[in-house]
Amino acid sequence: MVLVLGILGSPRRGGNSEILLDRALAGAADASAEIERLHPASLRIAGCTECNDCYALGECSTADDMDRVYAALERADRIVVASPIFFMSFPAQLKAVIDRTQKYWALKYILREPFPRPAGSPPRYGAYIGVGATKGKVLFDGARLTLKYFFDAIAVEPREELYVLVRGIDEQGEIREREQALEDAYRTGAALARL
Ligand SMILES: Cc1cc2nc3c(=O)[nH]c(=O)nc-3n(C[C@H](O)[C@H](O)[C@H](O)COP(=O)(O)O)c2cc1C
Repeated sequence: MVLVLGILGSPRRGGNSEILLDRALAGAADASAEIERLHPASLRIAGCTECNDCYALGECSTADDMDRVYAALERADRIVVASPIFFMSFPAQLKAVIDRTQKYWALKYILREPFPRPAGSPPRYGAYIGVGATKGKVLFDGARLTLKYFFDAIAVEPREELYVLVRGIDEQGEIREREQALEDAYRTGAALARL
């Protein structure tokens, strides 16, 4: 049984990303996956200070709730990030999590050690569910690029064919009116679990 971790990037509870993430996790559960959820905005997670301790230790010296996030990231077989666009990027709470995975970047590129997973673990795949208020062509370009490097640091292969990108959504819960997006999120969760 694969473990699908959903990371909610929005600080807004009951918002569009959360509704879509819940659909995706329902899809994953229906496809027999075990599911877990993380909400960075509900945790105390400081930004990376670039102390570079992780270059020597492979560990982060900042003590806060990121410990729980590291454990969840290491457990997960699949990761789905659901997040709104804030200023063409990710909300700060999620970006703090991403920056703090610098210790995995250091492990890979400085210390040349493998990502800490038990031997025989399945390959890791990642998906993204994005929402934004505007409709421009480049709306998700920043998020897509940041995710590519985040996933690389944590040894996850991005599966862009499973990305669900929804434009023109702003009010809290407005996504409930977009049946297609809800279906796409469900299907992405199920497909991610079955990869
Ligand atoms: C601080 C902030 C910055 C935002 N920046 C953008 C943006 O750059 N482009 C955009 O299309 N929408 C932007 N939005 C709108 C949100 O992406 C939109 O309201 C989204 O539906 C929120 O999703 P949620 O309900 O999951 O939080 C921004 C919203 C906030 C609060």
